[in-house]
Amino acid sequence: MKHLYFGTNMKMYKTNADTRRFLTRLSELFGGDYPEALTLFVIPSFPALESAAGLLKDSPILLGAQNMHWADEGQFTGEVSPLMLNDLGVSMVMLGHSERRHVFGETDEDLNKKVLAAVRHGLIPLLCIGETAAQKDAGVSDEVLRMQLKQDLYGFPKEKIGSLRIAYEPVWAIGVSGVPASAEYAGRRHEVIRGCLKDLFGTAGGSVPILFGGSVNPQNAAGYLLQNDVDGLFVGRSAWDADNFHSMVRALF
Ligand code: PGA
Repeated sequence: MKHLYFGTNMKMYKTNADTRRFLTRLSELFGGDYPEALTLFVIPSFPALESAAGLLKDSPILLGAQNMHWADEGQFTGEVSPLMLNDLGVSMVMLGHSERRHVFGETDEDLNKKVLAAVRHGLIPLLCIGETAAQKDAGVSDEVLRMQLKQDLYGFPKEKIGSLRIAYEPVWAIGVSGVPASAEYAGRRHEVIRGCLKDLFGTAGGSVPILFGGSVNPQNAAGYLLQNDVDGLFVGRSAWDADNFHSMVRALF
């Protein structure tokens, strides 16, 4: 049975207290009984990371951050460095979420520096890629995905490939006004991503986990997981309630 992944990005929702309640309830629901061959992860807001790290200390649930600067330290007001994340006990970092790219103008050049900094500091980079609606309509989705992968992973050390995670999230499918992609559409894009990872890293690229995200919900989740090359799900809104998170995991895995 292949290893699968399921995690949530909480965006700019949930205070520290809300996150504590979420994680406490989640631990109660799992009661120490976590499905095998499944990696779970939670990515709360920065202010909640320290207390989340305390709550997840003995849990198999991995803790991630939503963003990171590439420098160890410096005159970068408002930014968070890899050293700070290491210090908090964070193990993964999401990079290039569509809201970072399209609301805050992060470029592939920035993301390349961030991905390399993450691996240099022993953090698991969860690199998010995806095409916009205009790019899909123009028929260039596959080109966009390949360009993002090639630019963002430029110079990625092959010996660290085991730590890389990719999330494919079509920009037009994300969030309250997102339109869920069909499972077949997602499956075809995952195939393209897999092919590109193999071009970049040889056979090792074949085992990089590729997660799907964007309006994943209890009704459509199983369909995505049935696609070849979909190794897990990256969920927003539908997993922000601990009971829903838990029941999706139980139903799917
Ligand atoms: P959504 O968010 O599931 O609420 O569409 C997904 C994401 O932004 O990662």
